[in-house]
Amino acid sequence: MSWHQLTLDVPDDLKDAIVGELSGEGVAGVWETHAPLPGMTRLVFYFGPRSDLERIENEIRTVFDRSGRRNPVVSRSVVEECDWTEEWKKSYTSFPIGDDFFVVPSWEECHCPYDRLPIRIDPGQAFGTGTHETTQLTIEALERWVEGHHIVLDLGTGSGILAIASRLLGAKEVYACDIDPVAVQVARANIERNAENQVWTFSGSIDAVKSHSVRLLLCNLTADLIIRLFPELDRVLQPRGIAILSGVLHEQGEELREVITRFGFAIHEEITRGEWLAVIAEKHVA
Ligand SMILES: C[S@@+](CC[C@H](N)C(=O)[O-])C[C@H]1O[C@@H](n2cnc3c(N)ncnc32)[C@H](O)[C@@H]1O
Repeated sequence: MSWHQLTLDVPDDLKDAIVGELSGEGVAGVWETHAPLPGMTRLVFYFGPRSDLERIENEIRTVFDRSGRRNPVVSRSVVEECDWTEEWKKSYTSFPIGDDFFVVPSWEECHCPYDRLPIRIDPGQAFGTGTHETTQLTIEALERWVEGHHIVLDLGTGSGILAIASRLLGAKEVYACDIDPVAVQVARANIERNAENQVWTFSGSIDAVKSHSVRLLLCNLTADLIIRLFPELDRVLQPRGIAILSGVLHEQGEELREVITRFGFAIHEEITRGEWLAVIAEKHVA
């Protein structure tokens, strides 16, 4: 199999925004190396043979436009299947996440500290290694907000890491979906790896979910997507349901807060890491 390789140099402070934006475009892998200029990072993305490269480059331009930067030069090439996944695996080792968990790559022996719960993950080609700030913020919020009677929807489950954490924290039922069918397969395998019952996966998105059926909604997406999907988030959440909204850059916070309040939700908490923000909002009582 061959892959499309897209290479571009980005200012360090735009790196996460670009990677976050492209995570919704089915990126199969990304390498980060030093760029020749200081303050810049070279990002190398790999996309499958059927990817819409024009659309992907448009997404990149949108992020640059939004920050008032000149558009980058994006070079394209085609590479044959290589062992970058195997190479990457060598750098992915166990680490603590949140107050309660310890992420263990599925191919590693589990040496989990006694006061933490292991989450065994093989992210494959899905987002959700646990190393990204947006996942970490979501898990930290989840630890504080999930309750035993909750029905949880993990919208954009990627590797399934948040769905697994939700169930390990005692959520009654967990539904995990992704528009990327490969991610759904990866999530399913990870859920089974952690032997979690009461966790269901499906390929698709929030439009497949029944109205007022969700008590806790996990959205580690992008601000644009969360804003676009907000009427649907409102529809599926029960009155007094909680939404944990992550994947938001600080500069996008105001626009998101405006939408949240326009829908009559109350903002309970905001947590940040680096340039990322997560907002915890509660739906109004019907
Ligand atoms: C940033 S990743 C989050 C992965 C994981 N939940 C985590 O927190 O690490 C976002 C995921 O959302 C999926 N996605 C993008 N748009 C979506 C949509 N409209 N509905 C469902 N999933 C979506 C992507 O395929 C990707 O797997």
